[in-house]
Amino acid sequence: MPSVVIVGAQWGDEGKGKIIDYLAGESNMVVRAQGGNNAGHTVIVKDRKYTFHLLPSGVLYPDKVNIIGNGVAFDPEGFLTEIKKLEDNGFSAGNIRIDQRAHVIFPYHKRIDALEEESRGEEKIGTTRKGIGPCYMDKIQRSGIRVEDLIDPEVLKERLALQVPRKNRILEKIYEAEGYDMEVLYQQYREYGQQIKRFVTDTTKLTHEALQAGEKVLFEGAQGTLLDLDLGTYPYVTSSHPTAGGFPVGAGIGPNKIEEILGIVKAYTTRVGLGPFPTELQDATGDAIRTKGKEFGTTTGRARRCGWLDLVMLKYTARVNGLTGISLMLLDVLSGFESLKICVGYEIEGEKTTDFPASLKKLGKAKPIYQTLPGWSQDLSSITNFQDLPQEAKEYMEFIEQYLEIPIKIVSIGPGREQTIVREEIYRR
Ligand code: IMP
Repeated sequence: MPSVVIVGAQWGDEGKGKIIDYLAGESNMVVRAQGGNNAGHTVIVKDRKYTFHLLPSGVLYPDKVNIIGNGVAFDPEGFLTEIKKLEDNGFSAGNIRIDQRAHVIFPYHKRIDALEEESRGEEKIGTTRKGIGPCYMDKIQRSGIRVEDLIDPEVLKERLALQVPRKNRILEKIYEAEGYDMEVLYQQYREYGQQIKRFVTDTTKLTHEALQAGEKVLFEGAQGTLLDLDLGTYPYVTSSHPTAGGFPVGAGIGPNKIEEILGIVKAYTTRVGLGPFPTELQDATGDAIRTKGKEFGTTTGRARRCGWLDLVMLKYTARVNGLTGISLMLLDVLSGFESLKICVGYEIEGEKTTDFPASLKKLGKAKPIYQTLPGWSQDLSSITNFQDLPQEAKEYMEFIEQYLEIPIKIVSIGPGREQTIVREEIYRR
């Protein structure tokens, strides 16, 4: 039952795509279980850049089964666009499977997402406007339309006949916006349903069978722990569970089927969208990290907010995920700083703490307590062996390991597959 869950341990954009792609090479199956095409994973292979939003990152390998699980918010339009791009680039989509139970994103979800953001004004969340929140709202409200409905024209018609007038009332009466023509929407989505039909199955069964057969299954997290609906910095979160606990539900497997939980941690911190960020650097150092780390969103192109590594936050995310190991990403970006700061505590209203507060008000007031460590000047990008890393870089990592009491199993020093130093094998068997 070799299985690995990959979770972002910060605010997303930790570089999960690269590690997922790296581990996909030795996996039989790659499974997505939450989120949708709000995610953006960039994989660089032989100097070519591939970006995925909804597709699992194993699609570049011809022999892997790629699963879009029941917990995903599924945008058929986005899916078909990505499939086309994949096939145009010479890859096959034949090994992709979509779960029957996944909920479908419709155009009204995207429009409501955007209108709701606008109506919040200063209080906006900064969503990707991909309709994720409104789609999950329908799911929770028990009025959503699932993939199994999408591929059955009769059921689709019935479901849309119920939903479209309701959404139109919301659009027209609450947002004073235009509604949708039910027939136009039906024809368009019926066509999408027929196009995706060949990919649709009960993926919970496929995943179970793979695990029972001892195949290597990689559970691919999107977003990050602090964007978790329950455990993140609410309300500045996404509407799904990007934490380890989200996988059993979103992929339809028992929690006891997960063996390893690898947290993907950037060597510094970034955040997109709004909300408190204690170690944020709104100065030349922040700009330098942003430029060197190419910290601009894959999905939206937005500049990411950048700051020092925050171990208070990581101790919390490590705990709520039950991390068994860390993959430290973008360490090469920190080359060239004379010294580096790591946050080891917060001072909130005069009180020192090492606990990550649930209250955003408190988090907004948190002043980071820093430990300063020496930096290094060498370029790390062509180092292949852990021992060859500068002593200061090793000390930086040792400090993280000791504080979190979790081993750094992988170190990434560049975007390429070959720029990955593996200290401990991730699949235990
Ligand atoms: P939504 O997921 O589009 O509803 O956006 C909610 C919040 O999650 C916003 O702050 C987004 O910027 C953030 N978010 C969603 N997906 C990602 C991601 O893949 N990486 C980083 N942030 C994300």
